[in-house]
This record gives sequence, C-alpha cells and structure tokens, in this order.
Amino acid sequence: MSEPMIKTETRGRIAIITLDRPKQLNALSNELIDQLAEAMRAFDADEGISVMVLTGSEKAFAAGADIGAMQSWSYMDVYKKDYLGGNWDSLRRIRKPIIAAVAGYALGGGCELAMTCDIIIAADNARFGQPEIKLGVIPGFGGTQRLPRAVAKSKAMDLVLTARMMDAEEAERAGLVSRVVPLDKLMDVALEAATAIASMSLPSVIMAKECVNMAYEGSLNDTLMFERRNFHALFATEDQKEGMTAFVEKRKPAFKHR
Ligand code: CAA
Repeated sequence: MSEPMIKTETRGRIAIITLDRPKQLNALSNELIDQLAEAMRAFDADEGISVMVLTGSEKAFAAGADIGAMQSWSYMDVYKKDYLGGNWDSLRRIRKPIIAAVAGYALGGGCELAMTCDIIIAADNARFGQPEIKLGVIPGFGGTQRLPRAVAKSKAMDLVLTARMMDAEEAERAGLVSRVVPLDKLMDVALEAATAIASMSLPSVIMAKECVNMAYEGSLNDTLMFERRNFHALFATEDQKEGMTAFVEKRKPAFKHR
C-alpha cells in the first residue's frame, strides 16, 4: 500500500478531490495517478454524485511528473510498465464532468492533467506550461495534442518549444481556462459552478459532456450526428418531461436523474 497522495470529500452531489503531495508540489507518480483514477471511478459509479472538482494546493496544482523518480529510468523501464499510461487513459473514460480548480503551478503533466478535465477555473496566481523540453523529453500525456486544440498551433508551439510559462490572464485569453478568479475565491467559484451542474439532470449532463468531447476529438460530420442522436435520446428520460413541464408551469424542475 502506497501512502495516500490525494484527499477526498463530498458536499451533496459534488465530490472534491485534492492532490496532496505538498513537498513535491504534487508531482505525479504512478501511485498518485492510480489513487486519483480509483477515486474518480468510484465517484463516477456513485449515483449520489453528479460532478467532481479536482484541485491542488495554493502553490501548485501539480508541477508535472516526478522528475526525481524518473531520472534514472530507461526506455524499457517506462515502456514496459506503461509509465503513467494505463490509469491516465482511464481518466478519459470518466463520464461525469470534472472541474479543475487550478492555483499555482500546472506544469508538464500537471497542465496535461488539468487539460484532461472538462472545465479549468484558474486562480490569478496560476502558471501553465509544458517545460518537458528542458528535461530532454517532450510532453507525454496530451501536451502536444490537447494544448494546440485549446490555444491553437502558434501558442502551443511557443509553450512546448521554449518551455515558457503563461500566467492565468494569458491562459484565459488563449482559451485554455474558462475563468480567472482571485486565489481566495477559487474554491467558492469552482463549487458554485459544480453546484449549477449538480442541479441539472445527470443523463443530460453526461450526454452533453460526451457531445462536447466528440466536437473536440472527432470530425464534424460524425460529431453533429452524434449530438443529434443524443438530443433525441434525452426525450426518453423522465427529466426531459419534468424540465420542459416545469418551464411551461413557471416553476423549478425537480430532476430525478433518470
Ligand atoms: N518532480 C519532482 N519533484 C518536484 C517537481 C517535479 N516535477 N517539481 C518540483 N519538485 C520538488 C523540488 O525538487 C523541490 O523539492 P526539495 O524541496 O526536496 O528540493 C520542491 O518540489 C519545491 O520545488 P522548488 O524548490 O523547485 O520550488 P520553486 O518554487 O523554486 O520552483 C517550479 C517551482 C518552477 C515548479 C520548479 O519546481 C520546477 O521547475 N519544477 C519542475 C517542473 C517540470 O519540469 N515539470 C515537468 C515534469 S516532466 C513531465 O511532466 C512529463 C509529462 O508529460 C507527464
């Protein structure tokens, strides 16, 4: 059993997961990713949870993969054990929305982890970057793929090739983060967004996430059809009847998440 590297708590239908390796600025190890994936899978399966918030400390969301651990490994070491790979890929299969509440450094694997989430809300002290090239490697978990989709090619090349960090304002201008808020308001704003999501019908929330991800990952012909099919499919839910009836009756819907 490895030492605990995350903390979890729930508030109503919201799960909060906090990365907790403060001495290493939440550097990502296999053990941490295993613990994170296990917690997320459990919340994903929990009928009482609608949305997750993933956060770190005020100084670091995560400063990347654990350099001290990796430094002496060979190609065969990392390839054979699929270093960080297996359980990282399983994060992509989490169906409920994940909000990354990012303060401080989100570098390398830390920036990639934030980009694996669905919404990034940044504190005004957040710094994003893909500095792997300074270590003689390249990003390995989406930095060269998700970053260009988020901020377009030129800025992604700039960050990946020069290893410079961008601050929260630049990250918002570039489209990487959805909002920038004062550090002391970060969790309040993230929980407010989570509360709004948790008040919606869960099947609609999950389908909406799947559809936005299809737009992000697929081709327009296929993804427009995927969206249409899911829109039609939601008419099979009780919550669609309740949501539309409540609107017509000028009252709040009482969703049952089915
Ligand atoms: N791995 C392991 N330990 C790390 C770490 C990392 N990625 N980042 C920071 N730490 C440790 C430091 O070694 C230090 O430990 P000690 O106190 O035992 O010396 C502690 O965290 C505090 O760090 P600093 O003293 O360096 O703090 P700072 O405020 O001066 O600088 C920083 C902060 C700019 C984030 C700097 O720590 C830094 O540059 N870290 C490395 C960032 C990086 O290169 N990330 C990419 C890693 S590779 C990767 O992520 C590959 C991938 O695609 C998954």
